[in-house]
Amino acid sequence: MTRKVAPTGASVLPFITLFVLPAVALDVNVKSVASITNTSSQILEGLMKTYANTSASTGGFVQVQPWYWWLSGTGWNAVLDYTVYTNDTAYKADLLTALNNNVGANYDFAPAEQSGWEANDDQAYWLYNALTALEYDFDEIQPCVGEGLGVNGTCQNSWLSIATNTFNDYVSRWFHDNATCGGGLKWQYNQAANPNGYFYKNSVTNGGFFQTAARLARYTGNSTYAHWAGTIWDWSAAVGLITSGARTNVVDGASDSGTDNCTAVNDDKWSYNIGTYLMGAANMYAYTGDQALSNQQATWQERVSGLLAGANHTFFSPPTGNATGVMYEQNCELTAECNTDQTSFKSSLARWMAKTAVLVPSFRDDIVAMLATTAQRAAASCVDASGSLVCGQRWWIADGYDGLTEFGSMLSSLDAVQSLLVERAPQLAKLGN
Ligand SMILES: *[C@@H]1O[C@H](CO)[C@@H](O)[C@H](O)[C@H]1NC(C)=O
Ligand SMILES: *[C@@H]1O[C@H](CO)[C@@H](O)[C@H](O)[C@H]1NC(C)=O
Ligand SMILES: *[C@@H]1O[C@H](CO)[C@@H](O)[C@H](O)[C@H]1NC(C)=O
Ligand SMILES: *[C@@H]1O[C@H](CO)[C@@H](O)[C@H](O)[C@H]1NC(C)=O
Ligand SMILES: *[C@@H]1O[C@H](CO)[C@@H](O)[C@H](O)[C@H]1NC(C)=O
Ligand SMILES: *[C@@H]1O[C@H](CO)[C@@H](O)[C@H](O)[C@H]1NC(C)=O
Ligand SMILES: *[C@@H]1O[C@H](CO)[C@@H](O)[C@H](O)[C@H]1NC(C)=O
Ligand SMILES: *[C@@H]1O[C@H](CO)[C@@H](O)[C@H](O)[C@H]1NC(C)=O
Ligand SMILES: *[C@@H]1O[C@H](CO)[C@@H](O)[C@H](O)[C@H]1NC(C)=O
Repeated sequence: MTRKVAPTGASVLPFITLFVLPAVALDVNVKSVASITNTSSQILEGLMKTYANTSASTGGFVQVQPWYWWLSGTGWNAVLDYTVYTNDTAYKADLLTALNNNVGANYDFAPAEQSGWEANDDQAYWLYNALTALEYDFDEIQPCVGEGLGVNGTCQNSWLSIATNTFNDYVSRWFHDNATCGGGLKWQYNQAANPNGYFYKNSVTNGGFFQTAARLARYTGNSTYAHWAGTIWDWSAAVGLITSGARTNVVDGASDSGTDNCTAVNDDKWSYNIGTYLMGAANMYAYTGDQALSNQQATWQERVSGLLAGANHTFFSPPTGNATGVMYEQNCELTAECNTDQTSFKSSLARWMAKTAVLVPSFRDDIVAMLATTAQRAAASCVDASGSLVCGQRWWIADGYDGLTEFGSMLSSLDAVQSLLVERAPQLAKLGN
């Protein structure tokens, strides 16, 4: 994720540390739709109360400086899922306004306001809103721009046009960047603005492109997208971003600076990286099933299985805290050093695991079990503090709220809980149906 540098003298919001005892933690009954819905809506209400900035015309959430645009994108995707999973339309107008305000003049989530520092992965996290909207047949952005002039005769600002435009950006950048590592997208696509991030080919970026191609393949049935998904997976495996074996892991990235050529990987493991490849693989499983490509489908089933086993092994069951099966960010939570980006990563893994349960029904029960244990502890980390709900970051700490709350902690807790409602969503749509 790239970010704007904090303006000089900008105030830095600290972690909100509260020691308000006794506080009543949220207690979710994971067998009850009413309880999960109620808990989700309380967490989202708390998140919006503290972090929604109604005076911001751009539709960003209130965030610590330096300012993280991508977090607003993933935040709105949680609001979109919430709206679909519950039929509660309380935030729908804000959601559509925010997406409209950030889509940019080329309808690809590369708005002028972010130009120069926006990275491929930042763009992807906004794009996921368009893909989710397609999948759930969600309201289009109004008013329609250029009716009939967009992809397949849609509006130029239709979800299909936006998703296709962004996919096409990635394709052209892939070719632009292919002098190193035999392919792969760079993290940053603007060298002048961000020379460091420019020489790194990473998993959140390439996994984002992979996931986008796979979701478009499933949605449209168009094999061009499926071909790209296969190419990106193969490239990711060849350079070692995806590890092989029954337990698959996804590492952070590889440098293509100088003569590095992706020969050495940075093997940090973050939950959102494995989540993004899982979501893509699950969509390819569904696509190959729809197309009756049974050999290929068996391959994608194995890949989903490997990623789930890897996620279970690496991101569930922390070594302390008597919390077997509770999701945690293993690279930073044990030392309480997660930064503003990192506290949000679990929201991605929970969100995409849940959608995988729908796409690959043979893993449904395993996934629901993993999410249910996690959701209980995530809810128990939320307490009412002086009229505002706050959710903690380390769900495995025995006594509920751990005193560390911020946007990412709230978002992760929301996704952990509301993901249990994924089967309440309408059947995933397909183009033309
Ligand atoms: C959740 O349930 C509690 C207790 O039944 C109720 O007081 C509250 O209004 C509900 N909240 C929402 C947002 O549904
Ligand atoms: C809310 O948005 C406005 C307009 O963009 C901005 O000036 C203000 O600083 C934001 N508030 C916070 C708390 O970030
Ligand atoms: C890089 O992309 C160009 C098209 O822009 C293509 O001709 C070339 O074969 C590609 N090279 C690799 C290594 O993929
Ligand atoms: C860089 O890596 C790619 C793929 O691994 C390989 O095909 C290419 O020959 C390498 N280039 C150099 C200069 O070593
Ligand atoms: C499939 O998608 C590609 C990439 O967007 C597009 O160029 C092509 O026209 C599509 N095929 C059909 C049959 O629409
Ligand atoms: C346009 O629609 C056709 C028929 O539904 C579909 O096959 C094709 O993939 C669509 N094109 C794109 C770019 O999505
Ligand atoms: C661990 O958690 C289980 C289930 O919540 C509980 O029954 C058990 O007493 C706990 N053990 C310890 C040592 O805290
Ligand atoms: C996850 O790992 C635990 C061991 O930590 C194991 O008991 C459980 O069966 C695994 N779940 C899945 C779905 O692999
Ligand atoms: C939402 O409303 C629609 C239309 O009334 C209904 O079909 C659907 O079941 C509802 N979904 C949920 C999660 O309540």
